[in-house]
Amino acid sequence: MIDRREAPAQAVLPEELRSAYGGDLWFPPASPEWPYVIGNFVSTVDGVVSYEIAGQSGGGDISRFDPSDRFIMGLLRASADAVMMGSGTLHETAPGHLFVAGRAYPEARDLYARYRSETLRKKAPPLHVVVSGSGRMDLTRAVFRTPGIRTLIVTTKAGGDLLAASGAASLVSTEVRQLEGPIIAPAAILELLRAEFDVSLLLHEGGPTLFGKFLADGCVDELFLTIASQVAGRNTPPPRPGFIAGVGFTPETAPWLDLVSVKQQGNHLYLRYSTASESGKPRSEREGPVV
Ligand SMILES: NC(=O)c1ccc[n+]([C@@H]2O[C@H](COP(=O)([O-])OP(=O)(O)OC[C@H]3O[C@@H](n4cnc5c(N)ncnc54)[C@H](OP(=O)(O)O)[C@@H]3O)[C@@H](O)[C@H]2O)c1
Repeated sequence: MIDRREAPAQAVLPEELRSAYGGDLWFPPASPEWPYVIGNFVSTVDGVVSYEIAGQSGGGDISRFDPSDRFIMGLLRASADAVMMGSGTLHETAPGHLFVAGRAYPEARDLYARYRSETLRKKAPPLHVVVSGSGRMDLTRAVFRTPGIRTLIVTTKAGGDLLAASGAASLVSTEVRQLEGPIIAPAAILELLRAEFDVSLLLHEGGPTLFGKFLADGCVDELFLTIASQVAGRNTPPPRPGFIAGVGFTPETAPWLDLVSVKQQGNHLYLRYSTASESGKPRSEREGPVV
């Protein structure tokens, strides 16, 4: 295990979670304007994050529901003030799905709950944030009507009109906010979440389209990436996506990431990257090798 960050004087994670994670976990504070944004994906060795096969398109099919990947997903959800996803990712989940820690890894449900309430002093589960330009959404899903789960739909004027016509106003725990579209600017979403929903740590669960725009706009601070040791291949148009879709970089504009930590369990790798490099230059041109 490699961890390149200096630890705080006192451990953040309680002992049992620290031991299960293989180290401590902490995040820098948010700025007054924006939350601190962490992404989480699981990918095959050849960079595929979705098989794009009906019923087998989720991250679980990529990781083979790897317990350590699920544990990290739960830990990140337990740490976050809000969990965000695009409508494409939401639609791929079961109608009853909730983006809470215990759903990712039920075995640690109680540990997550104690860490969240006693260590982090967060009173409620993370705010669920769904981003959709069109507003086309199945409002019977559990995320929109589960008592105790607060959900925010970030959409456009057209999306807001469609949601209003679909009865969104009658949902007790879900609210709709309109921002300029059709492609909503990540910075506008971050400003809204920080200023009006008190979000300091935002967990971005994708998918590739939403995450691609955030990364391209410099609105991602960290990426937690699990590499599952399988190879999916690509032979269909459109090709199976990697964790970035809808944007393409050149060698001159491509973001370079700093490797923060590497963990391994069996054949899986669990990588933590930071985007906060001191310059846009490749790491190889800035300092010595990572490992
Ligand atoms: N392996 C993993 O870790 C992982 C993680 C996440 C997702 N996935 C997989 O990725 C696939 C989904 O990919 P995806 O790229 O379609 O996911 P996505 O980014 O979650 O959803 C795309 C949709 O989100 C909305 N959207 C995204 N960015 C927007 C913006 N800036 N402004 C307004 N609306 C925006 C649009 O919705 P409207 O069309 O409603 O306007 C868009 O069609 C699924 O198979 C999912 O399981 C895998």
